[in-house]
Amino acid sequence: MGVFLRGNSMLVSDFKLGSRRCPQTASGHGPVRTIAVTSGKGGIGKTNIAVNLALGMAKDGARVMLLDADLGMANVDVLLGLHARSSLLNVLRGELRLEEIVIHGPDDLMIVPAASGIKHLTELGTAECAGIVRAFSELKHHIDTLIIDTATGMSECVASFCAASSEVIVIVGNEPASLKDGIALIKLLHAEYGVARFHVLASMVQTAREGDELFAKILDLLAERHDVLVSYTGFVPYDDALHRAVLHHQAVVDAFPRSRSAMALRNLARRVGGWPRQNSPRGHLEFFIERLLHQNNVEMEVTS
Ligand SMILES: Nc1ncnc2c1ncn2[C@@H]1O[C@H](COP(=O)(O)OP(=O)(O)O)[C@@H](O)[C@H]1O
Ligand SMILES: [Mg+2]
Repeated sequence: MGVFLRGNSMLVSDFKLGSRRCPQTASGHGPVRTIAVTSGKGGIGKTNIAVNLALGMAKDGARVMLLDADLGMANVDVLLGLHARSSLLNVLRGELRLEEIVIHGPDDLMIVPAASGIKHLTELGTAECAGIVRAFSELKHHIDTLIIDTATGMSECVASFCAASSEVIVIVGNEPASLKDGIALIKLLHAEYGVARFHVLASMVQTAREGDELFAKILDLLAERHDVLVSYTGFVPYDDALHRAVLHHQAVVDAFPRSRSAMALRNLARRVGGWPRQNSPRGHLEFFIERLLHQNNVEMEVTS
């Protein structure tokens, strides 16, 4: 199933590619890196990593948008002490434009607050899905990186965001439940959604060595999956400073820039900033949205 047209309607891809009446699109500025930050288990530091990664990249000069895709429990804005008055839900309902719901965080970081209340992308109706595509297509902000803080667990919604992104970072902690769920997530994304490339990030470890050992365990557990490519993208240490920053409603890279976790997160941002950007349709924002919606087998019409 996919995007189709009837009568005087048009293909969503026509609209997005600018072949008809299309305003300046986000992709008009070049490929956008789309990075999903995910984890099998919650409470492992995923939202903090997504926020600090986004902020770190913004400090390094990237134009970053952070999408809070935890549709059930939005918290990116809360973490940064910001108050979202509206959300993606208002965009989906056609009440506001994407530009109007974007909150501007420190260092020009753009944040799209989650549409709390929607539990699943498949719950979105035809008009709402067309609304998402239109919203991102019409986005006037120039962005080069979209970071997605996914929800916790292995829902179809999480998988859809990961499968649509050009890069997937899987956060794993050094405890059996986190490791088990992280491996299960990787296997599921590979088997059911065709995701073959993963970046593993060790979270809340005490030492670099513990991170290395954790990654070695992951490689072991995936030894039979020859076509799954996992690379180690480093670790974020367990650090009280990060916890204190959360209590202050600030990102640790701002609140305690010289702390161990902040320095690790700034290094992570520099490494991720150096990842090559795909100069192919896969690298373009509209295609990300289109892939996202196709993943959900959404049948959509856009009437002109
Ligand atoms: N590296 C860390 N060191 C210390 N505490 C951490 C670290 N990462 C996360 N935490 C703590 O865990 C809590 C949950 O983090 P969060 O980023 O919300 O996790 P998730 O998004 O995976 O549920 C934070 O409020 C913080 O107190
Ligand atoms: Mg979270």
